[in-house]
Amino acid sequence: AAARGLVVAVDGPSGSGKSSTSRGVATRLGLAYLDTGAMYRAMTWWVLQQGVDVHDPAAVASRVDEPVISSGTDPAAPTIAVDGTDVGAEVRSEPVTRAVSPVSAVPEVRARLLRLQRQVIAEACAGPAGGIVVEGRDIGSTVAPDAAVKVYLTADAEARALRRAAEEGGSDVAVTQQILEARDRIDSGRAVSPLAMAEGAVHLDTTAHTLAEVVDQVVALVERAQQEE
Ligand code: DC
Repeated sequence: AAARGLVVAVDGPSGSGKSSTSRGVATRLGLAYLDTGAMYRAMTWWVLQQGVDVHDPAAVASRVDEPVISSGTDPAAPTIAVDGTDVGAEVRSEPVTRAVSPVSAVPEVRARLLRLQRQVIAEACAGPAGGIVVEGRDIGSTVAPDAAVKVYLTADAEARALRRAAEEGGSDVAVTQQILEARDRIDSGRAVSPLAMAEGAVHLDTTAHTLAEVVDQVVALVERAQQEE
């Protein structure tokens, strides 16, 4: 069994294989799983729903404390809910995908979700799982800088677009690649905790690897880190 208080941070751009890898690792090690991107998407979905202009940071900032956002951390069936309603499907919609980067760049949004993320992590570490795999853009750098293992996943832009389009049930690959690259530019260029490789992170390029291979590599990193403890 994994050590109590184990946090595994998995960061990287869209379509790098973060979600499948993180869930696979969590399942293998009996850990909880948190998709922080789903939290940013849930906030974005709610903001759109309220008719707030996502390109008006002050307007977005003034509302961030209103929605109750809850994450279910079972890697076999992760959930995301707003005010008690499951929005797992809604948060993957194209309007949300297009609006999520500007909303995520608002410092007040990040501060609110950071608090929530740290609560979820603390609960998982204190609960039966004893630890958690957390995926996002700023986990190793900001959310959990003390994580025992930090992984930074990348893949070629075309490979990422192919995976995303397939996940979305056959979206146009060229359009998907365009949206994904636009999102990466904003996520990497924002002032507050931009997407970047954290200090101490291990870089894994997943372009030429299967999911099973990448999961094996991350599990091996976790096992090695625990032996060194
Ligand atoms: O992982 P994803 O594609 O579902 O993430 C959606 C967006 O959320 C991503 O474009 C930027 C934002 N995000 C973030 O800013 N910080 C995180 N830790 C996770 C996601």
